[in-house]
Amino acid sequence: MKKVITTSLITTLFSINCFAASAPQLPKGYSSWSRSERKLVTDKSSLFYGIHYIYADKKALKGYQAGNKFNEGSTIIVEHFNIKSGSADAEGSKNMIVMMKKDKRQSATGGWLFAGYGADRKPSGLDPAGTCFGCHQKDAAKQDFVISTLKDFKR
Ligand code: HEC
Repeated sequence: MKKVITTSLITTLFSINCFAASAPQLPKGYSSWSRSERKLVTDKSSLFYGIHYIYADKKALKGYQAGNKFNEGSTIIVEHFNIKSGSADAEGSKNMIVMMKKDKRQSATGGWLFAGYGADRKPSGLDPAGTCFGCHQKDAAKQDFVISTLKDFKR
């Protein structure tokens, strides 16, 4: 009996630790979520230089409609593409995906889980607190750390 308890405790601790250390898999089927207008950023010094689209699940869309107040579980994804070489604004290859998911356990990053992925959907190991949150905090502390708003989804 004692052994069983010890094993399950270790398993629990291990899974908590795993959760904190690694990004979750991207949700399947997000390409059918509400999608923003196409966004072109031509400033080469910007992290978002290129073309991107924002996807919001049903909960996140409600959050946008409520003036950027998001319920637990709301998920927002950005797919980012290069600009095709030799063109001014045509879509080239996909180059990264980022995700925010409302998760009250992530208290160091405003109650949001931040995660970055390569075009292959594999976690890119970016540090959420260091790489992501600073910028979102600076630009959107008063709107639940979400920079885009409902108007980005009016197409
Ligand atoms: C240099 C500043 C900066 C950094 C660093 C940054 N972001 Fe953002 N992020 C933005 C801006 C600006 C937008 C709004 C884009 C738009 O309106 O089209 C945005 C939008 C988003 C969105 C869509 C929801 C929203 O807030 O509008 C997600 C999801 C997101 N970022 C995740 C991340 C993740 C994950 C990281 C770290 C890997 C990250 N971001 C790092 C500036 C940044």
